[in-house]
Amino acid sequence: MRSLFSSALLFAAVVRASLPKIIYQFPNPTWIENIRSMSNGSLLVTILGQAEVHIIDPFDTPVTSSLIHNFSCANSVLGITEIVPNTFAVAVGNYTNENGAQIGSFSIWKINLANGNSTHVSKIASIPRSGLINGITTVNSNTLLLADSTLGQLLKLDIRSGKSKVVLEDKTIKPVEGAAIKIGINGVRVKNGYLYYTNIFLNSVFRVKIDAWTGVPTSRPETVSSEIPTPDDLDVADDGTVFVPGSLSNTVFRLQGDGEVTPLAGNLNSSLVASATGAVLGRTWRDRNVLYVTTTGAINSPVNGTFTEGGKVVALDASEGWTW
Ligand SMILES: *[C@@H]1O[C@H](CO)[C@@H](O)[C@H](O)[C@H]1NC(C)=O
Ligand SMILES: *[C@@H]1O[C@H](CO)[C@@H](O)[C@H](O)[C@H]1NC(C)=O
Ligand SMILES: *[C@@H]1O[C@H](CO)[C@@H](O)[C@H](O)[C@H]1NC(C)=O
Ligand SMILES: *[C@@H]1O[C@H](CO)[C@@H](O)[C@H](O)[C@H]1NC(C)=O
Ligand SMILES: *[C@@H]1O[C@H](CO)[C@@H](O)[C@H](O)[C@H]1NC(C)=O
Ligand SMILES: *[C@@H]1O[C@H](CO)[C@@H](O)[C@H](O)[C@H]1NC(C)=O
Repeated sequence: MRSLFSSALLFAAVVRASLPKIIYQFPNPTWIENIRSMSNGSLLVTILGQAEVHIIDPFDTPVTSSLIHNFSCANSVLGITEIVPNTFAVAVGNYTNENGAQIGSFSIWKINLANGNSTHVSKIASIPRSGLINGITTVNSNTLLLADSTLGQLLKLDIRSGKSKVVLEDKTIKPVEGAAIKIGINGVRVKNGYLYYTNIFLNSVFRVKIDAWTGVPTSRPETVSSEIPTPDDLDVADDGTVFVPGSLSNTVFRLQGDGEVTPLAGNLNSSLVASATGAVLGRTWRDRNVLYVTTTGAINSPVNGTFTEGGKVVALDASEGWTW
């Protein structure tokens, strides 16, 4: 046991020494919107502009990627969350940069990867009168929370009945008046009895206590930080540390429980994480300190006004510069 443990530590140290590292890059243009890790180490990414979900194995040499599903009902896949082991839910709908979200076009689908190579995809529910369903997160095996970015609403979805309803609608969730794009609440993640969420043009991460059974908020929202420029889809570690891409600042931030904000990677003029959209921590012993970040390749807001590339998955050292 001891030698297995120390070789795992050694392996983890070797992996971390090679970071940051580009794991996989799609052709230009490809807007990767979000990412979740599987318990076996594979990564699932969603694409905006083509309604695709891809699986990437970061430990393959060379790293391989393959299409899991191409939805024919719409043009984009946004939020993704694991409902029960190896079964994920995704938000699918029509969105273009020119026209925004097509009202009422969003639905939530289930992707079952539990049976090896035979992927099973089925619809959970349409979301009536939806704006832009962006981040989604799991409360329990029957309950999801959905962020509607344009209507500025948090919805709960009952998986069995397919019924959804608004459970929170306030200024922490609404789009900011006069913002460049009418988008408010963006990333959502349930952890330790709280829903953590971002509001992109409030430059803020908030959290609110939620009922573990119903998903309904049971406290007033509190500000975790208001110093993260344009936060997008976040992840939260077991100890409450938040990892969040600042999409338009081309930077990824770590936000510790005591409020300390550390830029982990990138800067305004860097292409390392050019328009970062999502972040997720690795889940295996091989990558437990690795943060995987997705990008759009800056196709909407070129770095230095000129640079764009295909969206990519970048591995970062999540504990970089940590002050213990
Ligand atoms: C998915 O479907 C869209 C629309 O038909 C198509 O343009 C795209 O090439 C397909 N993606 C893949 C990877 O086959
Ligand atoms: C998405 O847009 C396409 C093209 O306009 C349309 O055919 C399709 O019905 C739309 N999907 C939904 C779910 O409204
Ligand atoms: C899954 O597909 C791969 C590649 O086609 C194959 O090598 C593997 O044996 C398959 N696994 C199962 C469980 O069918
Ligand atoms: C993880 O599971 C998925 C679904 O069964 C499979 O396609 C993928 O190859 C697995 N990844 C690894 C690293 O074993
Ligand atoms: C952007 O400009 C800065 C300063 O001139 C330069 O250091 C950087 O490499 C440029 N970034 C890209 C992605 O071209
Ligand atoms: C980015 O580049 C601009 C213009 O070249 C420069 O004014 C600014 O200081 C640079 N910022 C960083 C963080 O490097």
